[in-house]
Order: sequence, then structure tokens, then C-alpha cells
Amino acid sequence: MKKVFKVVLIVIVSLVVLIGICASYIALRSIPKYAVPKVDVKVEVTPARIENGTKLASMLCKSCHYNESTQKFTGRELTDAPQFGKIYARNITQDVDAGIGKWSDADLVRLIRTGIRPDGQYIPPYMPKLIHISDEDLYSIVAFLHSGNNWVQPDKTIQPASKPSFLTKFLVTIGAAKPSPFPTEPIPGPDTANLVTLGKYISLYQLECYSCHSKDFAKNDYETPEKSPGFFGGGNELFNPEGKKIISMNITMDEQTGIGTWSEENFILAVKSGVVPNGQPSLRNPMQPFSNLTDHEVKAIYEYLKTIPKLGNKVERSE
Ligand code: HEC
Ligand code: HEC
Repeated sequence: MKKVFKVVLIVIVSLVVLIGICASYIALRSIPKYAVPKVDVKVEVTPARIENGTKLASMLCKSCHYNESTQKFTGRELTDAPQFGKIYARNITQDVDAGIGKWSDADLVRLIRTGIRPDGQYIPPYMPKLIHISDEDLYSIVAFLHSGNNWVQPDKTIQPASKPSFLTKFLVTIGAAKPSPFPTEPIPGPDTANLVTLGKYISLYQLECYSCHSKDFAKNDYETPEKSPGFFGGGNELFNPEGKKIISMNITMDEQTGIGTWSEENFILAVKSGVVPNGQPSLRNPMQPFSNLTDHEVKAIYEYLKTIPKLGNKVERSE
């Protein structure tokens, strides 16, 4: 008996030591570098692209990269996802030293799709990757970054280096967070005259409404959004910049627990200005008012939501 006990003890001690070694390995490790996919693209800057890109950047980049004090995209500390570490969105103005003034179009396109910087450094999930957005929309964002818009004019502000948490390093080490593959085929835009097709594109691939409005960021299927658990049924726990928990709502057309009783006008008002029916208080951050969307685009999302399965999932609005 004594011998068995000794063996068990040795096994336990060895396991503890092994786990300790693995943990310190992960803790000491920095985010690894990856092979840099070859991307060959030169983006033509046209007024139409700048206009589209400015609209997209205001909905997809501004929330992290815009800085109130400089009134430019000089970056800021991101306090809404402390589990990822002490994270700073960087200066992405046209400054050649502090910003992205030296980056080529291909460097930008590659980073936004895959998360890989020109030197192979990978940006973990604290910056979302636009893996399904159309080439035209992506080139529009690049055109905006090269434009004369005041948000991206050169500025020397430098943000401190991000300090990823143990969790972030762990996710990267086990491969749960890794660069997205660069698309092998061109990605066309949607047929904008077909409301359902357009609505699907906006809510799954362009603005990714489903990613907040399904059950859990960690369980979302980013490759095939429809396979995400609780697709559009809400309940995902989010945090506003003050660290207050705000749960995402069920926006399937379920009459009891979703928005099945909302009219198209109710929906447009809520998405564009945050005003919801029945005298409820307005929607709060991190649900931003998508005021730059046209009524046609919001109608399209509404029409698309009518085509997906209704989910009975009661979400209590966060107080
Ligand atoms: C949820 C927050 C968030 C959003 C939204 C976001 N970013 Fe970022 N971005 C970051 C963070 C954080 C970093 C720096 C990561 C680090 O320190 O490793 C970063 C880094 C970058 C870099 C690399 C800069 C450098 O010097 O290495 C570029 C370029 C960039 N972002 C462009 C964009 C564009 C364009 C958009 C919109 C399409 C966007 N980002 C949206 C958080 C965000
Ligand atoms: C960054 C995460 C996030 C994204 C992206 C997002 N939402 Fe939301 N949404 C929320 C949260 C959180 C709430 C709850 C806000 C509150 O309780 O004040 C919400 C609430 C709503 C509501 C109100 C539902 C109700 O019953 O009151 C609607 C409608 C809605 N979102 C539609 C959309 C659409 C359409 C998109 C895409 C264009 C979208 N959301 C993108 C987080 C998000």
C-alpha cells in the first residue's frame, strides 16, 4: 500500500511540475510570428471608394482606433475586454513613424484579413479580422486610410505596447486563436437590389451583427456564421467601456422573446438611432447607433432576419 501511495505521489508531483513548466512557458512567451502570406494588390483610390471606406471605417474601426483627445485614429487603450490583457489599439494615421505611412496596400489588406503584420507578428482576437468582407469594401477601407480625411492625417502619438494576458497567450499557444487564412478566391460584393442577399451580407460578413447577437463570442463559428450556437438569439455577455455588463438581445423574429412584433419602422429606428419601441430606454454601448446605414440597408437586414430560424430565448435587458 505504501508503495502505491508513493507512486501516486510521484505522479501527482510530476504532473504539478509539468503544468507549472507549461504555464511559465506560456506566460513568458510572446505572441509568435507567422509566415507572411503573399498578397499582390494595388488599391486605386477613387472618390466612391473613399466615401464607402469612410462610412465603413466609422462603423468598423473608429470604436477602437479613434482617440477623443487627438480627434484622429491615433489609437487608445481598450478597457472593455480586460480578459485579453492591457491592450492598446495603435496609431493608424498616415504618419510614417508613429502610424502606417510606410505600409503598402498589400500590407494593409493582409493585416485586415488575416491579422498578420508585415513582420509576421500576429494580432490576437482583440482586433477583429474581416475574413468575409467583399474585396471592394476592403479596398474602400484602404482608400479611406490613404485619404485626406482628418481622422487619418499624420500624427506623432505613440501608444504603449499591448501586454497580452495569460489567457490570450494560452489561446494562441494552443492554436484556438490563430491567423485567418488569406482568401484564395476573389470575394464579390452582394447583389444590392436583392434585400435578403444584401441583409445577409451586412449582418454576417460586413458588420457581423451575429457575432455579438449570438450566444457566446468563444463559440461563434466565424467561418460559417449560421452555425454559431444561438444564432441571433442573443444572451452574449458584453461590456461597455466602463466595464458594465450589457447583454446582447434576441433579434430573431420570435414573437415572445425576440423582435417578432417589431414593425420595419421600429427596427430602422432602433438600429440607426438606438430608440426602441414601448418607451424603453435607448440602446447602449456596445450597441452603437448605425446612423450611417441607409434605410435600404437596414430594411435589408430586417428582411434577412425574417428568413432565419426564430429562437425562443428570453434575454433580460441589463439594468
Ligand atoms: C476591437 C478593437 C479594434 C477594431 C474594431 C479595429 N482594430 Fe485595428 N487594432 C486593434 C488593436 C488592439 C491593435 C494593436 C494590437 C497589438 O498591440 O498587438 C490594432 C492594430 C491595427 C493595425 C496595425 C498597426 C501597427 O502599427 O501594427 C492596423 C493597420 C489596424 N489595426 C487597422 C484597423 C482597421 C483598418 C480597422 C477597421 C477595419 C480596425 N483596425 C479595427 C484593435 C482594433
Ligand atoms: C458590438 C456588439 C454588437 C454588434 C456588432 C451589434 N449589436 Fe445590436 N445589440 C448589442 C447589445 C449589447 C444590445 C443590447 C443593448 C442594451 O441593452 O442597451 C443590442 C441591441 C440590439 C437591438 C435591440 C433589441 C431589443 O430587443 O431591444 C437591435 C434591434 C439590434 N441590437 C440590432 C443590431 C443589428 C442590426 C446589428 C448589425 C448592424 C447589431 N445589432 C450589431 C450588441 C451589438
